[in-house]
Amino acid sequence: MQQQATPESRGQWRSRAGFVFAAAGSAIGLGNIWRFPAETARNGGAAFLLVYLACVAVVGVPVMIAELSIGRRTRRNPIGAFAALKPRTPWVLLGGLGVVTGVAILSFYSVIAGWTVGYLFKALRGDFSAVTSAVQSQQFFEKAVGSGSWNLVLHALFIVLTTVIVVGGIRKGIEAATRVMMPVLLILLFALVAVSISLPGSSEGLAFYLHPEWSDITPAVVVAALGQAFFSLSLGMGAMITYGSYLDRKANLVSSAGLVAGMDTGIAFLAGLAIFPAFAAAGKNLDALEGGAGLIFVVLPTIFSSSIIPAQPLGGILFGGTFFLLLGVAALTSTISLLEVGVSWAVDELHWSRARAATLLGGASFLLGIPAAYANGGSALFSGDNWLGHNFMDFMAMIFITFSLTVGALLISLFVGWAWKARNACDELRQGFSGSEGVLQGWSFLIRYLCPLAIALILAVLYFRPGVIPT
Ligand code: TRP
Repeated sequence: MQQQATPESRGQWRSRAGFVFAAAGSAIGLGNIWRFPAETARNGGAAFLLVYLACVAVVGVPVMIAELSIGRRTRRNPIGAFAALKPRTPWVLLGGLGVVTGVAILSFYSVIAGWTVGYLFKALRGDFSAVTSAVQSQQFFEKAVGSGSWNLVLHALFIVLTTVIVVGGIRKGIEAATRVMMPVLLILLFALVAVSISLPGSSEGLAFYLHPEWSDITPAVVVAALGQAFFSLSLGMGAMITYGSYLDRKANLVSSAGLVAGMDTGIAFLAGLAIFPAFAAAGKNLDALEGGAGLIFVVLPTIFSSSIIPAQPLGGILFGGTFFLLLGVAALTSTISLLEVGVSWAVDELHWSRARAATLLGGASFLLGIPAAYANGGSALFSGDNWLGHNFMDFMAMIFITFSLTVGALLISLFVGWAWKARNACDELRQGFSGSEGVLQGWSFLIRYLCPLAIALILAVLYFRPGVIPT
């Protein structure tokens, strides 16, 4: 028999606040600031926002609580956790799906994260001061991402950064990185929102974002909103199982999940509030608004170069530079968790060193990300719509975000609600819990009935109406 790692040797968060910061760091990333506004744009604006908020509250938070309870109960990686709770059953495959999904999402996520680093350099060089119109900004963006080598170098850089931090282990690396940067990101976002809504012509953008048309709520919108909720909250592949496994029994899992989801949703909301008014002010037609990977990369430079910002061009350079730096760090605290899932598995179950596990899995992600780096103009093969009607990057997002995370979250709900059983999960949740028993009863109902039904229904839509598959 090989020895299992003890909690001590696996590491633990230094404090409850440390965990909340790390989990929020995992959740808050490109999903909030890059993908959320793009998905909102593509799906009609305010209607999407409304459905999204409902998805987070009704399905997202309960699934996060479920993942945390599995992790803390078993103190294992996702594969080990399912095996510990239901030995010799196919449930371990669900953990395996999580590990694969993590490496796969990391592969293209890191390419976009590379764009933030590239834009940081461009901001510092003062390149944005030449970008005064939306049209110019669009051309600037297309030129940048159209270069495969630019993408590839930045992608490589980002994978290396992620790997180095994951090798550092959970305390030194993950906790420390998150603590400092998150409050600063928040302050900067508020500043962006303030500038954005004071630009002349911005009010149409606010209306697009905040006044829902009920008729805009279609099955496609609901599918997209649910997928985005799982992605943004880091659910459906065991990242929260892994992070929960480093948590002690004094922590209140229910309130932690609420706090993490609240912060994550707040940041996404603010990102939308920064983007849409500025987009309208830049004179673009909101009804024709296409999401697309470029939304923030096109809109934000027009804010940074606007004359509302004092002391141009230096003001714009500072503002833009700091913003892309922080966005890069937010992405880094997310890529860490994508890699950590596989690493915790290799360390726990294969007894690899952290260094070896992180290097090999990070390397795999790098290779898998190469086509994604060439998917926005770098190569005709990967940029064209040869991939089920999408370019390669959107194709990967479709399989691993929209499909894999949703299936993963469905199976996790079924596992906790019915296989491991909600009452056993409740025993775990009671430790460190200070709220009323009714909250746990309510959660049991949601995780057993409402979550699986809602997710299954939405997957059925995906299956029967593949035309609505979002990316
Ligand atoms: N939630 C992160 C974001 O919004 C991305 C992410 C990190 C993620 N870890 C995850 C998504 C695990 C799903 C599962 O940018």
